[in-house]
Amino acid sequence: MKLYTVKDLDLRGKRVLIRVDFNVPLKDGVVTDDTRIAGALPTIRYILEQKGTSVVVMSHFGRPKGKKDPAFSMAPIAKRFSELLGRPVKLASDVIGQTVRSEVGSLAAGEVLLLENVRFYKEEEANDEQFAKELASYGDVYVNDAFGTAHRAHASTEGVAHFLPSAAGFLIEKEVKFFAPLLENPDKPFVAIIGGSKVSSKISVLESLVRTCDAIVIGGGMAYTFLKIQGHAIGNSLLEAEYIEVARSFLAKAASNKVRVILPLDHVCASEFNEQAAPVAVDGVDIPEGMIGMDVGPKTLAVIAKELSGAKSIVWNGPMGVFEFASFANGTKEVARMVAECDGTTVVGGGDSVAAVNQFGFAERIDHVSTGGGASLEFLEGQQLPGIKALERQ
Ligand code: 3PG
Repeated sequence: MKLYTVKDLDLRGKRVLIRVDFNVPLKDGVVTDDTRIAGALPTIRYILEQKGTSVVVMSHFGRPKGKKDPAFSMAPIAKRFSELLGRPVKLASDVIGQTVRSEVGSLAAGEVLLLENVRFYKEEEANDEQFAKELASYGDVYVNDAFGTAHRAHASTEGVAHFLPSAAGFLIEKEVKFFAPLLENPDKPFVAIIGGSKVSSKISVLESLVRTCDAIVIGGGMAYTFLKIQGHAIGNSLLEAEYIEVARSFLAKAASNKVRVILPLDHVCASEFNEQAAPVAVDGVDIPEGMIGMDVGPKTLAVIAKELSGAKSIVWNGPMGVFEFASFANGTKEVARMVAECDGTTVVGGGDSVAAVNQFGFAERIDHVSTGGGASLEFLEGQQLPGIKALERQ
């Protein structure tokens, strides 16, 4: 299967319909993190550099549940998009309908039109064929650069590809270039760092990566279920009792694949889960009764550092502790530093770990910081993402 990219399309004189993921954080009507907008610019600029092209851009923003809700309008995003692109961006009055058709029809070469939020119509998430056809009628060709939404089989991410010559943008191409080898033939040693609060949301990614990695570091709230299986005391730390058996069989699989599993050896605990709670260092694996594990301790970090120092590939998804609370952020911050300092190929995906590398100032030193939250997780789970599959040809 080959993934066609925008460079494989003859764009001259064409109106190009592009799906991007401009689902960005907003505060008081202002975009607070424009990484996703910036991520799509190389493709949009490339399209506009081709002679005689115009661009119709579509994205969702938030979850307006199929209703036209002004709180979810693309207007503030259009403003930031235009500033970053350095040229005017027209905001369409709607997503479908006669007025939008004429707004699209009157686009001149070099012009950019951003449709209103595609999720203003329930047909988008239903991947309705008629709706997809209507969107497809806006372009001569279709480019998908919405990696962050590639795990959704929606009309603008999947349906449209059936009605137009289609290709991936540079952002999707780059995301695939960094993620795909991790599942197939990573440079070795390959270390995966998987954290976050729940075993239930990370077990599939653990089971996928155990096929190709040499070591897996497990941190965050999910680690305590694994420690419990090993017979350790975990106090009042997070436990997903119903996942004990799957977690146990994962550990057995790792052992039979000779994959080293690194679990916390020491902790930073608290007697209650809140930001003001006093941090208590626990210098051992067992957590005293009444205490909650909130972060990994220095012994654990030393072992992680040793494991990461010689790694040729690293993927990181999920924080090591409750890094939103300053007293429990050290483990996540130190792991972010170690990943940034690694000479091998480093990939960070997932909302929280991406937020952590940005917050602690290490993003620039990481080879690939993914724009996908759920999408990067599903990719690492080995799932085919519908938005990308629709672009592949035999
Ligand atoms: C994301 O932010 O993960 C994507 O934009 C997808 O959004 P969704 O989870 O609402 O489909």
